[in-house]
Amino acid sequence: MNKITYGRQTISQDDIDEVVKALKSAAITQGEYVPAFENALKEYTGAKYAVAVSSGTAALHTVYAALGLKENDEIITCPNTFAATSNAALYLNAKPKFADINEENFLIDENKINKLITENTKIITPVHYAGLPCNMEEINRTAKSCNIKIVEDACHALGSSYNGSKIGNCIYSDGAVFSFHPVKHITTAEGGAVLTNDEEIYKKCLLFRSHGMEKVNFKHMPDSPTYHEMQFLGYNYRMTDIQAALGISQLKKIESFVKRRLEIADIYYNAFKGSSKIKMQKRYKDRLNSHHLFSVVFESNDLRDKVYYYLKENNIFTQIHYMPVNKHPYYENLGYNYKDTPLAYDFYRRELSLPVYPLLTDDEVYFVIEKINTVLKAL
Ligand SMILES: Cc1ncc(COP(=O)(O)O)c(C=O)c1O
Repeated sequence: MNKITYGRQTISQDDIDEVVKALKSAAITQGEYVPAFENALKEYTGAKYAVAVSSGTAALHTVYAALGLKENDEIITCPNTFAATSNAALYLNAKPKFADINEENFLIDENKINKLITENTKIITPVHYAGLPCNMEEINRTAKSCNIKIVEDACHALGSSYNGSKIGNCIYSDGAVFSFHPVKHITTAEGGAVLTNDEEIYKKCLLFRSHGMEKVNFKHMPDSPTYHEMQFLGYNYRMTDIQAALGISQLKKIESFVKRRLEIADIYYNAFKGSSKIKMQKRYKDRLNSHHLFSVVFESNDLRDKVYYYLKENNIFTQIHYMPVNKHPYYENLGYNYKDTPLAYDFYRRELSLPVYPLLTDDEVYFVIEKINTVLKAL
């Protein structure tokens, strides 16, 4: 059996051809491909505006900045995420706060958000962990009643839907953020995007992505047609046209990519349903989980570790998502304590993300299941 990892990209000849075309075009950055990719993202998600950037992390930083997040402001997110979700708030000298997770769906517990809200809370960032959308209606109700903005960390959730509409359409939020890292649903190698329906947020994101420089609406009236004017401190978070060409080609295949992920998820659900040793993420009728990850929780930390090492001996490389953000030494040094969110910590000790990606064959999925069952039966 080949080496099996928890996730990997699907690149085919048509993707390569598109990248080669972009390389041969007049502009390999700031050309036509980035706006075309943004249009394709808008069309796919249903959002009014899209801003492609250099990574999901850059997208988070960009949208937080566009929403005016600043020193002493607070955001609320959950610890079961990649550190970038809250790091991007730290970049702006704002303070992340962590609400614990729900043990059944592994997502932020919407009922634990309220008690963290203060007069400094500016943004709630629900993370659609593994691809399962959070309870956006409830989070939206909470946020709106306190005049708080919502940014969906949808880095795991391209292709997911909530109440029948695509994640990324921002019906329940002010902005949504995607990542196009190779393990995600589509890839641009590195890359990300902000989606929003708000023109003002969109314009700020465009500026933030490119040094805060205006090419129109100057404060000082210039004579030169090539005049650029910097209005605030921005970054170079631009995506290249080479990456955008790959993104356009990949996005054309998103439905088949998601379909295959769902088939694999179904095989796992059927294999482990009823098991007292393995818990799987809850499924909802009105939420489609596009399964960036297939996350399972074992009965104990010891069992999870046994499975992890046995799979590794068999050339199957799983991963653990996530060590709670508030347990990273950097966060501990800032005064955070993982014991404040005990369910996220317990989850981390027992979780394993099983292989799921479009190129994974049925035989490989059954091989993974067989190896897990071997450990379970040996108990
Ligand atoms: C939930 C979540 N948020 C943010 C990011 C950051 O995305 P990127 O790696 O593209 O910077 C990731 C990437 O792994 C992620 O999983």
